[in-house]
Parts: sequence; C-alpha cells; structure tokens
Amino acid sequence: MMLAFLGGTGAEGQGLALRYALANEDVIIGSREKDKARKTAEKLQALVPNAQIFYGSNIEAAVRGDLIFLTVPYEAEEDLLRILRDHLFGKIVVNVGLAMKIQDGLASTIELEERSVSAKCQSLIPGSYVVSAFQNISAVELLNSNHRMEGDVIVCSDYKEAKERVMKLVELINDLRAIDGGPLQNARFVEELTVLLVNINLRYKTRSAIKIIGV
Ligand SMILES: NC(=O)c1ccc[n+]([C@@H]2O[C@H](COP(=O)([O-])OP(=O)(O)OC[C@H]3O[C@@H](n4cnc5c(N)ncnc54)[C@H](OP(=O)(O)O)[C@@H]3O)[C@@H](O)[C@H]2O)c1
Repeated sequence: MMLAFLGGTGAEGQGLALRYALANEDVIIGSREKDKARKTAEKLQALVPNAQIFYGSNIEAAVRGDLIFLTVPYEAEEDLLRILRDHLFGKIVVNVGLAMKIQDGLASTIELEERSVSAKCQSLIPGSYVVSAFQNISAVELLNSNHRMEGDVIVCSDYKEAKERVMKLVELINDLRAIDGGPLQNARFVEELTVLLVNINLRYKTRSAIKIIGV
C-alpha cells in the first residue's frame, strides 16, 4: 500500500512519512513544487535507506497514493481539495489538520462553520472516506526516530472500514495506540483538545500527549 502525504515537505507530513517508512510502508511525498518533494524524499531516504520513498506533485501523490494524508495548513486544504477532488474519489483521506492560532502566548481555535477541519474536508470531498487522526501528535517527536512515541491517537470517521484501517496504521508507529473516537462529528472535540494541549505545552515548555484510561 502506498501512503501519500500531501504537503509532505512540512514537519508533520515528513514526520509521519518517516515513521511509516521505518515501518516498511511505501510512501510518496507530495508538494506544490516537485523539486521540494524530491529534496524531502532524499532526506528521508538517507534516514531509511531500505525504504521505498517516492515524490511528486500533490496531484501525482494523490493519484499514486492508496491512502492519503492531508498534511497542509488548514487554510490550504480547501483549494487543494477542490483541485484534487476527482483524484481522491473513493480513497481514504486522513485529515491531520486543525484550525488554531497562537496570539500573545495563547493558543485558540478558529471557528469554522463546519465546526472542525475534518468535517469541512468531508464536505469538500463527499466521494472520499475522510478520517480524522494525529492532530495531537507532535512533528518534532515524529521526526526524531530515536524517540519512542507515547500516547493515544483518537480516530474519528463516518466510515467504519476506513476508520479501522487508519487505526491499524496508527499502531504501526511504536508505541502509539489508536482509540475509536466515533463519527466524524466528534473530530471537533479532538481538534479542540489539541488546542488545549498546545496551551499546556506553551505553559510547561513541553510536548504533552494524551492517554485515555479505562479502555
Ligand atoms: N507541526 C506539528 O507538530 C503538527 C502536529 C499535529 C498536526 N499538525 C497539522 O498538520 C498540518 C501540517 O502541519 P505542518 O507543521 O507540517 O505545516 P507546514 O509546515 O506549515 O506546512 C506543510 C506543507 O504544506 C504546504 N503548504 C503550505 N501552504 C500551502 C498552501 N497555501 N497551499 C498548498 N500547500 C501549502 C507546504 O508544502 P509545499 O510548499 O511543499 O507545497 C508545506 O511544506 C497542519 O494542518 C497542522 O495543523 C501539525
């Protein structure tokens, strides 16, 4: 299975691609600039010499990918999804983004009509299976392959099979655990919880994570 990272040149896309390359999954880095994607792919290849790491434009990545990760800033998602809608038809699209701003040392959510970035994605690509995941997983930690990831990833989707596939993918990254967060409408709580975690991080100068107990 080929995992595609749209905007995979950014920290979060690179971090996830690195972890999946380490888990022996094939990955393709997408970008608005193919040369930028090539440089990122080469960097990852040097870190994981035996992995199958490809690169291309975001369109090429969307076409070649069996499962797509949206790892662009949330403001960029709308235009990107309008361009790629046909190429994403019938595919699982994992939204990693959230709508957040930081001002005067305080993180806050940006209100969206759809209540979450994940729900907005689904409304823009109704023929795709949108799954919300990874919002609270730090790029810095993903990019440090010596760091053991810790915590839970809450996965939400209206599509059971798509959600189960993404939950399995989450657990390919040591030692993350996937938690079924229910339908996509619950993604707003995860996105908002991530804003709270960012505020905790700012206050404690750390990178906090969550662990659900009792499951
Ligand atoms: N950083 C984190 O720790 C973290 C953690 C959890 C979730 N997230 C979420 O993951 C997403 C990516 O985060 P990031 O920190 O990796 O972001 P980023 O570095 O700011 O952006 C990622 C990539 O998106 C592409 N991009 C930027 N502006 C764009 C535009 N207007 N149109 C199309 N593509 C554009 C760029 O790729 P090209 O220039 O190559 O096209 C860029 O390298 C965000 O939604 C963020 O909320 C981030």
